[in-house]
Amino acid sequence: MELSFAPMEGITYSAYRRIHAAMFPGADRYYAPFIAPDSAGRFKAGNLRDVLPENNVGVCLVPQLLCNDAAPFLSVAAELGDLGYEEVNLNAGCPSGTVVAKHKGAGMLGDLESLDACLEEIFARCPLRVSVKTRLGLHDAGEFSAILDVYRKYPLSRLIVHVRVRDGMYKSPPDVGAFAAALDCPFPVEYNGNIFSADDFTALAARYPSLGAVMLGRGAVTNPALFRQFRGGEKLRSEELRAFHDRLLEEYLAQGLAPQHAVPRMKELWFYQLCLFPGGAKAGKAILKARSLPDYRAAVSALFANVPLDADAKFDK
Ligand SMILES: Cc1cc2nc3c(=O)[nH]c(=O)nc-3n(C[C@H](O)[C@H](O)[C@H](O)COP(=O)(O)O)c2cc1C
Repeated sequence: MELSFAPMEGITYSAYRRIHAAMFPGADRYYAPFIAPDSAGRFKAGNLRDVLPENNVGVCLVPQLLCNDAAPFLSVAAELGDLGYEEVNLNAGCPSGTVVAKHKGAGMLGDLESLDACLEEIFARCPLRVSVKTRLGLHDAGEFSAILDVYRKYPLSRLIVHVRVRDGMYKSPPDVGAFAAALDCPFPVEYNGNIFSADDFTALAARYPSLGAVMLGRGAVTNPALFRQFRGGEKLRSEELRAFHDRLLEEYLAQGLAPQHAVPRMKELWFYQLCLFPGGAKAGKAILKARSLPDYRAAVSALFANVPLDADAKFDK
């Protein structure tokens, strides 16, 4: 089974991906959090830095675009091609209200004629392979069949299906059964949604024996060793998580990120990783409350010193 690391805006940027790939090999691909170009194809300098090949050594990376207009998509895709990328991913799943209101992300699923027209132009002119990350629909999984009919018209390099509709955001129960409709697509399909443990993974593989690829997001941010574990390797050890944490923090500081920015960025991770410390509510609170770098480091040390990591615990929010 191929495994990929989902794009997670705010978390899985280049430093995270590089360190994760070096310390916890096992993901076949990483998808970069979305680049959102304006109508002229311009985008933030930070997005470019995130995908520069020199910042992604050792990582098989697929950049992602959040864009509902072929012209800027093609212009950024050409730039990515110049950097050496051979594939670009289209985000047709972001549920954010501001994004959907602009008919981008999952908002593209509300107007299939426009989606079709956009894909037609992209596939006619894009020099790179194009994959799509989609949801089942905007409001109801009954929309999925017509959405698939649009995708089937084009030679997608891959279709990643997050098994929720937009209205479910990241909370509604994943509609695992609805994924079945995608299985006979003429291109590879990849499952995404709530695979948080080895049991979840085994149950999914048993339900869909022909499935070739699974994408992990929150599960892997919670437990960075999940890819290894799914491949039959060892479960996460506390010392490894500590080393991963320390290396990431040091990397942020070495990149010149001021402590007042590095600490909040690390706290974003703890929203997930604290799930691994079921008895650690108090120690976790101290981490999330720490404001200075010394206080933060002390709170993290206290957690690792005093609270055992449960490698079988999983993302549960
Ligand atoms: C904080 C956060 C940021 C995300 N950023 C992106 C993104 O940039 N692009 C994207 O396609 N999906 C994004 N997603 C969705 C994830 O890639 C994934 O589809 C979702 O978390 C469901 O998978 P999971 O249940 O394995 O976490 C994000 C999700 C979260 C929670």
